[in-house]
Amino acid sequence: MSAPNQAAAPAVGHAKIETSNRLMIVLILLTLLVGGLVEIVPLFFQRSTTQPVAGLVPYSPLQLAGRDIYLREGCYNCHSQMIRPFRAETLRYGPYSVAGEFVYDHPFQWGSKRTGPDLARVGGRYSDEWHRLHLINPRQVVPESNMPAYPWLATTTVDHESIGAHMTALRRVGVPYTDPQIGGAAEEIKGKTEMQALIAYLQGMGLTLGGQGGKGDGR
Ligand code: HEC
Repeated sequence: MSAPNQAAAPAVGHAKIETSNRLMIVLILLTLLVGGLVEIVPLFFQRSTTQPVAGLVPYSPLQLAGRDIYLREGCYNCHSQMIRPFRAETLRYGPYSVAGEFVYDHPFQWGSKRTGPDLARVGGRYSDEWHRLHLINPRQVVPESNMPAYPWLATTTVDHESIGAHMTALRRVGVPYTDPQIGGAAEEIKGKTEMQALIAYLQGMGLTLGGQGGKGDGR
């Protein structure tokens, strides 16, 4: 029978790691670091993740203003903008999303919360009038909807003064806006309602690789 408080043999090999908190923490961090570098860093340099898909154009000033409203109203709390590469998703929403579709999105709106449907390819799926009625009161067109109503968007006008600065900032991070586009932006959207801007944004969503136009109500 061994003595109950026999001196433990000095820890060696794996036992040493398992009995030292500090060493364990350092090695875990090192493992994560190496794993992260190998998985993440190549994505910064791959063409398929950094180059726009063919035909992708930057948001028009009106769409950009609409996108700001989308962010301000927190639409992303209920809607994702990323179709995953699974059959159930592509049948419902259209072709799955690829990174090159979002290179002009700062910040991107992929999300994962889906209280409502994914919106990545909602462009062209409904008429502008449908969107207007839906945003004023979703229950008008989808009786069982629990989406909030946004009636004020129809009467408030967009902030046209800041749009030029916004586009300039985006150009700094790689969105190819030209000087005439930036110069004419304020005039272009002056007096438009927030509703018009938001609908312009929604109607442009996902068109480059295939919107859902003509599919009707596929929910
Ligand atoms: C509390 C959650 C919630 C928020 C916030 C929300 N929605 Fe929705 N949305 C839903 C739900 C649920 C549906 C599905 C029922 C319906 O069509 O109304 C929906 C449907 C939609 C649809 C139709 C999608 C389709 O393919 O049929 C659009 C477009 C939409 N929302 C846009 C917006 C916009 C723009 C905002 C922000 C101004 C917003 N939603 C905010 C929950 C939300």
